[in-house]
Amino acid sequence: MATTNQVGVNQHGYRTFQIGHFSFSRDEYFAHIEWPGGSHLMPVDRFLKALMRDVAWNFFYGIVNFDEIFGTTNHYGTVDIFAGLYNAGYRAQKKEYVENLDSVKARSIFEEMLDDWTVEGFDPFAAPAETGSAFGPKKGNNTRAVKRARVVAKRMAGMKGDTPLRNDQNGFPVNRQFQDVAQDEPEVHAEPGFEDEVHAFNFFGYLSRSDVTWNPSVCSAVKDSLVCPTTEEFALPVIHGNDRVEWFIQLSDEIQWEIADRDSGAPRARAVMKPGDVAAMPADIRHQGFSPKRSMLLVWENADPSLPELYARKKLKPNPVDF
Ligand code: PHB
Ligand code: FE
Repeated sequence: MATTNQVGVNQHGYRTFQIGHFSFSRDEYFAHIEWPGGSHLMPVDRFLKALMRDVAWNFFYGIVNFDEIFGTTNHYGTVDIFAGLYNAGYRAQKKEYVENLDSVKARSIFEEMLDDWTVEGFDPFAAPAETGSAFGPKKGNNTRAVKRARVVAKRMAGMKGDTPLRNDQNGFPVNRQFQDVAQDEPEVHAEPGFEDEVHAFNFFGYLSRSDVTWNPSVCSAVKDSLVCPTTEEFALPVIHGNDRVEWFIQLSDEIQWEIADRDSGAPRARAVMKPGDVAAMPADIRHQGFSPKRSMLLVWENADPSLPELYARKKLKPNPVDF
């Protein structure tokens, strides 16, 4: 374990953080997590990629497993931080540990930790081939990358006063793996007076210019119906435990999903999704995706806040369709 000097910095140059009774420290290669009755470590690149998403997504929907042991459960106002809670082995030995904390406080400490532990050149949102290394002693930071705001359209990307479309000029060149994606834009001829109401854009062109991976962004919103496309490359850095159904539409290339029981982690299915494939991920699973080359995925989320309880009380079936 690292030693800490008076200014709270260990011999590797990193700060140590405390959230409730959890303590977090990093060395050159690993994030170390300790809690009353146990400890765990994770390769620090994997930890920071998961932490980046947990922070940017404000704890997301349901459970964000950083790995098989550690993670968070969103209760939308409070958050559980847990170790071993959704691990059958830990549960069998009664070794699980969980604390419920105020979401705003927990997130602000996670944000500080992410900023302190991310060194110059490492971008936790980038594909492995598009970032430098997370390892080594403390050297600079990458605040610009870790403070990137998640795209959240109020109505639709590109509408007046809404999140802008992407182009070379505003810093979003076409990604190296999407050079073949057409960049023409549709023509929109609105009736006078409806110029701010009628809108269309080249969705594939927009996605081809995404500079991040595994980061669904809200590109259009109609009440609780959120269209959240994302570009994927390599592995989803979290194992997501659903608290509602999620629909996936594979827009390009291929993603393979490992799907397991949400609570125990027991394997349930593998889905190999090719362009045009649609999946309804049930409300009682966890899943992790693997994308051998950069691909485009549309995640359709239902943000209705009453859903987690309806599924938990079995008022709704975990699968929305039977075949
Ligand atoms: C998911 O857990 O459903 C998820 C998360 C991030 C993605 C895609 C899917 O980029
Ligand atoms: Fe999910």
